[in-house]
Amino acid sequence: MKKLFALILALAMVMALASCGNTASDSGTSGSTTPSTTESTDPNAGGGDQPGKGKTVAIAMPTQSSERWIKDGDNMKAQLEALGYEVLLQYAEDDPQQQVSQIENFVAQMVDCIVIAAVDSGALTTVEAQAKTAGIPIIAYDRLLMNTDAVSYYASFDNKGVGTAIAEYIVDAKDLEAARAAGESYTIEFFMGSPDDNNAVLLYEGIMEVLQPYLDDGTLVCKTGRTSFEETCILRWSQETAQQWCENYLSGFYADEDLDIACSAFDGFSYGIRSALEGAGYTEANWPLITGQDAELMAVKNIISGKQTMSIYKDTRLLAEKCVTMVNAVVNGSEPEINDTETYDNGVMVVPSYLCTPVAVDVNNYEELLVDGGYYTAEDLAG
Ligand code: BGC
Repeated sequence: MKKLFALILALAMVMALASCGNTASDSGTSGSTTPSTTESTDPNAGGGDQPGKGKTVAIAMPTQSSERWIKDGDNMKAQLEALGYEVLLQYAEDDPQQQVSQIENFVAQMVDCIVIAAVDSGALTTVEAQAKTAGIPIIAYDRLLMNTDAVSYYASFDNKGVGTAIAEYIVDAKDLEAARAAGESYTIEFFMGSPDDNNAVLLYEGIMEVLQPYLDDGTLVCKTGRTSFEETCILRWSQETAQQWCENYLSGFYADEDLDIACSAFDGFSYGIRSALEGAGYTEANWPLITGQDAELMAVKNIISGKQTMSIYKDTRLLAEKCVTMVNAVVNGSEPEINDTETYDNGVMVVPSYLCTPVAVDVNNYEELLVDGGYYTAEDLAG
């Protein structure tokens, strides 16, 4: 009898706790563990209250030199403000020390949460520890924050998936299987991302997982011989460096033979590569396949005019939205939606993540993906 009573009591307590949990999440807007797209950004969700009222979120972005980060910052600011948060948004213009100072100031101001897309996460470990000591939660945005236990969540894209999508596009567009069977080959050069950005490493791994067999059997020929990450990574994703490298390659290794494929990890590189090719006299007749990443407006215009072949569309609206659910969760003490708890080991901890899906975009699907999807208007692309 005693046992039965204890059981009933235990059940009653569990039910009471469960209902407490519901109440907490109902009042917090983002309290649901699986908020839907509309729920998560609706300022009136959760019974009309604003979960961010009286709270300040600081956002540390890497640079305004690339369009994507401006979009990221704007999207996040707008979404957070719609939830009642005050937002401090700062760009470090690719200067790691400037980003450290910006975050030190955020900590000094005792903001409620800091969102960081790092310039060089190696430079941030001390200031991240300061934030943790001050009780300020940190969310890693797009780029993983390495070697710190001060990060609560990570919102990003499947970064290795970006690499495999680029490489698979090359395999299909050049029909490398047919080339292999016919004993033909294509020349290729690699322009990879910044060595201080974990995304760049993963992207490279994704690319090589697909392309290495074709390099090994000579279907792809890299005349510079530069195929390792160390040899192909470009510090701070510099467009100028990509252009210089490409100019050197074209006037040297490619003086007597065309470059067929420029495997570029970033739209910014692709603009530099385009300039180098134009300078070297390439025309429509021998224009190479050029890849990219971010589906920036200029890149999409280049895709339409044939100066770039493809890019990777990463919907920054969606990424911002996922990050905002994480902010709401850490500020209001609830659990955000995550879909990966294994991949992103930063050297100290595996950071719970939400990874959005990257999609290859080219001249055949840009209208459907980008215009119908509301990312750009037809006027944007025409101008
Ligand atoms: C991002 C890419 C971007 C690159 C350069 C990476 O961390 O994931 O989307 O192209 O930085 O800004």
